[in-house]
Amino acid sequence: MSIEEDLNEVKELCEHCQNCSLYASRTNIVFSGGVPNSKLMLIGEAPGYYEDQQGEPFVGKAGQLLDRIFASVGLSRQKDVYICNTLKCRPPENRDPLPEEKEACRAFLDAQIEILKPRIILLCGKVALSSMLDSKYTISKVRGQWFDGPYGSKMMPIFHPSYLLRNDSNEKGSPKWLMWQDIKAVKRAYDEL
Ligand code: URA
Ligand code: URA
Repeated sequence: MSIEEDLNEVKELCEHCQNCSLYASRTNIVFSGGVPNSKLMLIGEAPGYYEDQQGEPFVGKAGQLLDRIFASVGLSRQKDVYICNTLKCRPPENRDPLPEEKEACRAFLDAQIEILKPRIILLCGKVALSSMLDSKYTISKVRGQWFDGPYGSKMMPIFHPSYLLRNDSNEKGSPKWLMWQDIKAVKRAYDEL
């Protein structure tokens, strides 16, 4: 079976998932977006209102900023990136995912990584960071650093675009400026694959 067929099989299981209570309030699961055979995967946090409505990750304001960040180095979700989230269902009022929700959803994320075997994994925000690396790390300390990931991949924590929307400065050393350094480093690594 192709990568796409394997992923679709997992997506179908996800559509029927009732492993945590979030299934009761979801409109749609949000399984993934972007290209299914990419070497570059981004893991976000969880669907928000618009993602839940549309069944697509990162389509609201944060997602539009994410697209601009990728575009600034010539990357796009149509061609280059597979996008998914730590949770596939929206937490009510966009609250932080609960530990038991992350636990219940984990097998889907693991399956996505196992099938895709991306070479680069971006951990976007603190929820993805704490799911994939030691929870003692904080995003502002480790963003921009490379870590060893599953299946020989390299993982880099990056700020979440929602955080950048709340911190508007472009000055040297600001979160937006740091994100710009990080995405340029990601592009360099991607070009070397
Ligand atoms: N924030 C996320 O982390 N993921 C989405 O899909 C949308 C907003
Ligand atoms: N705090 C967060 O929750 N996310 C970030 O990306 C940075 C700080």
